[in-house]
Amino acid sequence: MHAVVMHETGDPGVLLYEETARPQPGEGEVLIRVRAASVNPIDWKYRRGYIPKDLPAILGNDVSGTVELSRAEWFSAGDQVFGIAAGGAYTEFASTPSALIAIKPAAISHEQAAAIPVAALTAWQALFDRAKLEQGQTALIAGAAGGVGHFAVQFAAQAGARVIGIGSPRNEEFVRGLGAAEYIDYTSQDVAEAAGDVDFAFDTVGAEMTQTLLPAVRSGGVIVLIAGAPPEQEASARGVRAERLIMSPSSDQLAHIAKLVADGEVHVEIAETIPLQEAARAHALSESGHTRGKIILTV
Ligand SMILES: NC(=O)c1ccc[n+]([C@@H]2O[C@H](COP(=O)([O-])OP(=O)(O)OC[C@H]3O[C@@H](n4cnc5c(N)ncnc54)[C@H](OP(=O)(O)O)[C@@H]3O)[C@@H](O)[C@H]2O)c1
Repeated sequence: MHAVVMHETGDPGVLLYEETARPQPGEGEVLIRVRAASVNPIDWKYRRGYIPKDLPAILGNDVSGTVELSRAEWFSAGDQVFGIAAGGAYTEFASTPSALIAIKPAAISHEQAAAIPVAALTAWQALFDRAKLEQGQTALIAGAAGGVGHFAVQFAAQAGARVIGIGSPRNEEFVRGLGAAEYIDYTSQDVAEAAGDVDFAFDTVGAEMTQTLLPAVRSGGVIVLIAGAPPEQEASARGVRAERLIMSPSSDQLAHIAKLVADGEVHVEIAETIPLQEAARAHALSESGHTRGKIILTV
């Protein structure tokens, strides 16, 4: 089989499309013939060596495809599935534990399904597992047009929250179209001043954005961070709960979100669909930091 293999850390050019051994699924695992994968920023952070990884490595988490061989109770050869590929997703065949995948609804494409796992699970868990967002609350979402953010805006709006999206000017119309009642252009506006008191802030950006978001959260509110460290001291001084989230795979949540997409309640934005052989180009695009929605790799 072919896969995109990284033998060393560095520029996108270290991603090499080459022949490699097909993985053998262990007990409780399925082998997936991959139709689509997606790129998450963590992939290029591994590639850069910012996060250590054993080499050689096949990068990527998100896959959608067809079960080629099942050694798991709930899945059979021929099932259309999507989820997280434990051994890497930038490949023609991925082996993964069945607990990390779910059945792909027929109404959604492999490209849409591959966009969901990491980004949508992270958004879902930030809003509902951590912040316990409720109807009528105000949610301030940074990186609102990004992979995670564009799901978060839709989930929060559908839960009945008033959503304030943050992004650059070119994304305003897009984010409002996803359900945001208000939009703050971080390139020209003071975020805390424009947002007022919010119940929940979702920081998908980190660094300076964290400092900008914190003063907007009311005492007793919560800020959930997925990039960067929580500002624990400043948060507690303001009576704000600050939590760092590391996404946990959940096949139940995957199935629930896929149904929302299949029913037309959630839109999956695909920035670009790129052949697997051109994974290096996809990485360069993701690393630019201004993707709208998700970048998909097709096999
Ligand atoms: N902890 C976890 O479990 C977890 C899970 C998933 C992702 N993450 C992390 O979360 C981050 C976001 O992931 P993603 O997939 O949503 O990334 P993404 O698709 O690349 O989205 C990036 C977004 O950030 C915005 N942005 C870039 N620079 C900015 C700045 N200086 N100020 C304000 N906004 C800025 C962009 O908005 P504009 O284009 O409008 O400027 C864009 O919408 C990444 O660091 C990723 O590694 C963590």
